Amino acid sequence: DAIYRPGALGIAPTVPTDTTELERRAKRAMTPKAWAYVAGGAGSGATMRANREAFDRWQVVPRMLHATTERDLGVRILDTDLAAPLMLAPVGAAGLITDDADVRIARGARASGIPYVFSCQGSAPMELTARAMAGTPFWYQLYWSTDEDLVDSMIGRAEAAGAQALVVTLDTTMLGWRTQDLDLGSLPFARGQGIAQYTSDPRFMSLVRRRLAAAGAKAQDLGLDPRRPVDLARAAKGGAGTLLSMSREHPGALRANLRSAEPRAAVETFLDIYSNPGLSWEHIATLKDRTSLPVVLKGVLHEDDAQRAFDSGVDGIVVSNHGGRQVDRSISALDALVRIRDAVGPEPTVLMDSGIRTGADLFMALALGADTCLLGRPHVYGLALDGAAGVSAVIDGVLAELDLTMGLVGAASIADITRDLLVEG
Ligand code: FNR
Repeated sequence: DAIYRPGALGIAPTVPTDTTELERRAKRAMTPKAWAYVAGGAGSGATMRANREAFDRWQVVPRMLHATTERDLGVRILDTDLAAPLMLAPVGAAGLITDDADVRIARGARASGIPYVFSCQGSAPMELTARAMAGTPFWYQLYWSTDEDLVDSMIGRAEAAGAQALVVTLDTTMLGWRTQDLDLGSLPFARGQGIAQYTSDPRFMSLVRRRLAAAGAKAQDLGLDPRRPVDLARAAKGGAGTLLSMSREHPGALRANLRSAEPRAAVETFLDIYSNPGLSWEHIATLKDRTSLPVVLKGVLHEDDAQRAFDSGVDGIVVSNHGGRQVDRSISALDALVRIRDAVGPEPTVLMDSGIRTGADLFMALALGADTCLLGRPHVYGLALDGAAGVSAVIDGVLAELDLTMGLVGAASIADITRDLLVEG
């Protein structure tokens, strides 16, 4: 009602409710590099397309005369009551889009009363973003670093900041083949985006300092005082050739003497350790001793992995292909959801993301077995168009359509959204 009312007065919303229009307007509002990073997918984009096409294969069969004046969108997930079956997905490097991105996203989520999953590649320290949530539940998403002390440090900070669950993303042990970013020569992290969680971490900064010290030691080998940039300037007077060969043979020493040494060392350290291609079930098993938070594994696509997750005591999974950003030509998230729910039965907590754009999509994912869904790119587009208010407008639009769909198909509660309301084909 609140959403229709302005329209009745002839007022169009700042943030379009139509998905295609939302994307079109967001593209105009973003730099080409930010757009490529957010909207892009892996390889040919086939997984991203599959995520959408999977929704087209199902149709809703509305039921009539179910007296749905009162509708309840509430769900209970991991012992927490949520106002609606929707959370904001973790997005790294949102600082590409605007300053204070994470804090603005948090404010938008809070305004709409839904949880936000903070990315460990956020653009603000998690403690700041947590404050902006002001009591609305949030979860913390972790990429498993090759530095185990950093893993513990991040988990400890997330607990202290008040996260209600730990989400470990499994599908990004290495960055996917992101053709659009590659062709624009734009990796967000290279410009220091998305590493605020790291540079605000004591363990991480000790690794950075260690790296700088090693570079300094190299400078000393050259007979230079590593603390004095002027030494390099003197060395440079020996001629451009001297400097060039020094920079080739001793890049660390050269960098250590530049004023930007620390930020650069931070980015290099980050790229070395942010994720672990050797991640295995053994790592996950250690979480029992490392955190008291419920553990959710994000990026599960195979039913055997889902079953193994629950067998090993994990509290929940997110069926996701990372919005089609990791493995090109992978199974769509919706198809994977159906297979996984069939395999694990009705009890385990199964969340889903990748491809949800509208309230009707959300309805379908719930009907096909998701307990709650996560929204990725659309909230970032809202951020690009109107900051926190834009994020909130996108969420409200999706939930309003879900609410309306429920009312029109005869579902008064989320539990009423069952698979028999859909047909395939
Ligand atoms: C992501 N995603 C993501 N996932 C994660 O676990 N940690 C992260 O840091 C990021 N970063 C990130 C950045 C950007 C710009 C996007 C678009 C996505 C994946 C995200 O959480 C989610 O799985 C997908 O976005 C869901 O797909 P849709 O809704 O975008 O189709």
